[in-house]
Amino acid sequence: MQKIDLSVQEIIKSKWVVALTGAGISAESGIPTFRGKGGLWEKYPPSLFGNIPALTATFFLNPQKVVNFFTEIGEILTSACPNPGHLALAELERRGILKAVITQNIDNLHQEAGNKRVIEVHGNAYRWRCSSCGGKYFLEKKDLRRMIEEIQGERTSRLGLIRKIKSFIPPCECGGRRRLDVVFFGEFLPQKEINKAYRQLDRCDLLLLIGTSGMVNPAATLPSFAKERGAKIIEVNPSPSSLTHLSDYFLRGKAGEVIPQLLNTIKEIEEAK
Ligand code: OAD
Repeated sequence: MQKIDLSVQEIIKSKWVVALTGAGISAESGIPTFRGKGGLWEKYPPSLFGNIPALTATFFLNPQKVVNFFTEIGEILTSACPNPGHLALAELERRGILKAVITQNIDNLHQEAGNKRVIEVHGNAYRWRCSSCGGKYFLEKKDLRRMIEEIQGERTSRLGLIRKIKSFIPPCECGGRRRLDVVFFGEFLPQKEINKAYRQLDRCDLLLLIGTSGMVNPAATLPSFAKERGAKIIEVNPSPSSLTHLSDYFLRGKAGEVIPQLLNTIKEIEEAK
C-alpha cells in the first residue's frame, strides 16, 4: 500500500487531528521560507533584522535598510493568496476532520483560506499590540498595502517615516504605544497561544507536520510533546527536517500538492461509503 493511502487510513481512524505548519506551506503562495537558499534570513540576516534592538540600531544607522526590509516583506505578504495546501486544510476543518491549525506563520493565510481554529504562536503581521494594556489592533490587507506604498514614497527623514507609520496605527485608547504583534528572536511566545497549542496537542492523536524545518524553539518542541502523548505524526515536506525522526510517515513533496492529494483520497473513501 502506498504511503499516501496508509496516511489517509491513519487520518480517518483518528479522533483529533491537528496540523502544525511552518513557512513551507506558504512557499507556493510566493512567500519565501526563512532558511536555505533564497531564504529570507540570507538576504536580511537576523543579527541586523531579527530582533527589536538590532532593528532599532539598523534604523538609526541606515533607515532605508529597515524600510526595504519591511516594505519587501509587506509587499510579498499583501500580494499572497492561500494556495491549494491552505485550502485543503480549510476543507479538512469544514469536514470535521481537522480540529486546529497551529502555525508559526504570520501571514494570515490559514484564516484567509477559511480555517476558523488557528493558533498563531509567532503572531500576525497584520496585528499591532499595545505595549501597555496588550490591546490588539488589526490592519486590513489593503491598509497594510497602502501603508507600504506611502512609506516607500517617504524618503525624507527618520521622523517622517515614524510619523507616516503612526498615521496608519493610531495610539491605543489607553494611551500606550502599539508595536507589531509578531515574535522576534529572543522574545517570549504569546502565553495564551502556547497554552492553546499545548491543549490541542494533549488531545491530538494525529499531527500533520507541514513545511517546517523544526529549527526554532520552543515551536520545534511541540511535535515531541504530541508524540510523547501517543500521537502519530505525518510529515509533509520536500526534504527531511530536523523533526523527521519523529514522523511515522514522511510524505516527500510540496504541501500544495500532497495535502490536496490526502483530501481527495479522503473524499473518495467517504463518497464510496
Ligand atoms: P524554515 O524556513 O526554517 O523551513 C521551511 C521548511 O519548509 C523547510 O523544511 C523546507 O524544506 C520546507 N518547504 C519548502 N517548500 C515547501 C513546500 N512547498 N511545501 C512544504 N514544505 C516546504 O521555516 P520555519 O520552520 O517555519 O520565526 O521557521 C520557523 C521560524 O523560524 C519562523 O516562524 C520564524 C523563523 O525565524 C520567527 O520569526 C520567530
